[in-house]
This record gives sequence, structure tokens and C-alpha cells, in this order.
Amino acid sequence: MVIVYESKTGFTKRYADMLAAKTRLKVFRVIELAKVNQDEEIIFLGWMKIGKIQGLDKLRKYNVKAICGSGTGRIAEPNPEEVIARNKITGMPFFYVRGGCFPLKELKGIDRIMLTLFVKMLKRHKNNDERQEEAISIIENGFDGVNEENLEPVVEWLRAR
Ligand SMILES: Cc1cc2nc3c(=O)[nH]c(=O)nc-3n(C[C@H](O)[C@H](O)[C@H](O)COP(=O)(O)O)c2cc1C
Repeated sequence: MVIVYESKTGFTKRYADMLAAKTRLKVFRVIELAKVNQDEEIIFLGWMKIGKIQGLDKLRKYNVKAICGSGTGRIAEPNPEEVIARNKITGMPFFYVRGGCFPLKELKGIDRIMLTLFVKMLKRHKNNDERQEEAISIIENGFDGVNEENLEPVVEWLRAR
């Protein structure tokens, strides 16, 4: 078993490195996939963008055994069932780990544009929902939810195999 991950701003990488340290499994980025044998069992970690686990499509021909998605919500957003459906991973062990993000003004390119529009939409549909307030604050101010404890279910799953 090896760990493969896709990370844009480093939060998912921290989880991949943490998992490697805890399990002594080797860790590879998606762009290093050529170094991984196609039969090798893989636990994949990817950051999520509009519910889509980034990098996962590049592993469709590989022997993926479990998947972790990292996002900023308290739970996988839009919701765990939708994430499983949108990524076509029904029946595959799926773990959500809370990652993080940099403040909106530090982002660049399409991600900044998308999140600016998202915040505008959230503010327009404000209904004093606590989670909505939290989502706005996380995007505007940045957030770091990386915590070793969040990996416990993943480590447990690996131990139980
Ligand atoms: C354009 C964009 C869309 C995102 N969409 C989601 C999402 O649908 N669900 C979620 O939980 N997090 C979403 N996020 C937050 C990232 O998944 C989260 O910050 C992740 O931990 C970043 O990981 P990385 O540092 O490894 O790139 C989004 C971030 C960006 C920039």
C-alpha cells in the first residue's frame, strides 16, 4: 500500500505526510504516479473543489482502496452522499478530513474568482445560519483545520485490514 495525494495549497499534503509518518507507507504526488506500479494498493487523498475530489480521475486505472477528501466544511460539502455520487466512488471507503485555506485576498486566478462569487452568493442568501456565517469567515479570513485526530478513522481502517 502506498499513499498518493493531490494538493494545491498544501493542506492535503500535510495530511498525506502525517499519514505517511504514522503508517510508514511511502507517499507520492499524483504527478509522480509513473513511479507507482499499477497493481500497488493505494490510499488516495485529494482536495475538493465544488464537491469534486481533485486528482482522482488520474487514478481510475490504478488499484485505489480508499479515498480521503479534504475540504473546509465541518463535513464533506455539499454533503457526503453527493460527494460520493459526484466522484463515482460508491462502495469505496471514503473519509473526509478538514483541511484549510488561505484568505481570499491571497488567492489568485480562477480559484479567487470562484470563491469571490461564492461568498457573494452566500451573503446575498444570508439567513443567519451559523454554518453559512462560518463558511463566509473561512473564505474571507482563511482557516487551518488540519489536525492529526482527523486521520484517526483512516489509521483505524488501515489497521483493521
Ligand atoms: C474553487 C474552490 C472550490 C472549493 N470547493 C470546495 C467544496 O466543494 N467542498 C469543500 O469542502 N471544500 C472546498 N474547497 C476548499 C478546499 O477543498 C480546501 O481548502 C482544501 O483543504 C485545500 O487543500 P489543499 O491545500 O491541499 O489544496 C474549495 C476551494 C476552492 C479554492
